[in-house]
Amino acid sequence: MLEEEYQKGHRPVGAQRNLPPLQVPFAYEIRDVAEADLPDIREIYNHYVANSTVTFDESPMTLRQLRAKFAQAQKSHLPFIVAVSPGGHVLGYAYVFPWKAKAAYRFTVENSIYLGPAATGKGLGKALMAELIERSRKAGLKEIVAVIADRGAEASIRLHEQFGFREIGHMGRVGFKFDRWLGTVLMQKSLK
Ligand SMILES: CC(C)(COP(=O)(O)OP(=O)(O)OC[C@H]1O[C@@H](n2cnc3c(N)ncnc32)[C@H](O)[C@@H]1OP(=O)(O)O)[C@@H](O)C(=O)NCCC(=O)NCCS
Repeated sequence: MLEEEYQKGHRPVGAQRNLPPLQVPFAYEIRDVAEADLPDIREIYNHYVANSTVTFDESPMTLRQLRAKFAQAQKSHLPFIVAVSPGGHVLGYAYVFPWKAKAAYRFTVENSIYLGPAATGKGLGKALMAELIERSRKAGLKEIVAVIADRGAEASIRLHEQFGFREIGHMGRVGFKFDRWLGTVLMQKSLK
């Protein structure tokens, strides 16, 4: 076989037909968390524990600790949602939990939102946050507080701002991780 005949028969399919590169749509469904999702959630969270300062935890979260959060959310009817791929893999999650245990704080919650690294930067954070806020409103909650690291969490601060969270405080040098001091930005949103 001549070289040019060989080349003709072995061009990539897209190039042969002049097709655009294959683009896989980013598909997901947002639903209530199920107990079977907890191992995936733990893996997502522990990635940020080990590799970032967006959480001030330094030891991996255990399944037992996560089960306790899940049970508390179920018992208190607080929103805890996941975004899952068509194949059933958890891409990210968001939940709210009581801001403080004392009774008068009962309408105020703190939020938490984490996406797997491959699912960031594609708008999923906005979709999960919108759903979390809507469900929190329906649950009768009135205030959501976010406590965000003041370094390395720019996407989170931007996301919260987009949903009307306002900065209400900044605490400097309250955390120490990876050999450096960190502060927290406090943000708050009213659901009224
Ligand atoms: C924070 C997080 C939930 C945001 O979700 P996301 O899907 O990645 O963000 P989105 O694609 O919806 O983008 C939200 C906004 O943040 C902006 N943004 C994203 N990355 C950014 C960065 N590194 N710096 C500044 N802004 C950034 C986006 O441009 C977008 O704003 P725009 O609409 O004006 O362009 C996600 O990135 C994440 O899970 N990060 C790691 C865990 C974390 O930080 N959790 C929060 C702890 S408080």
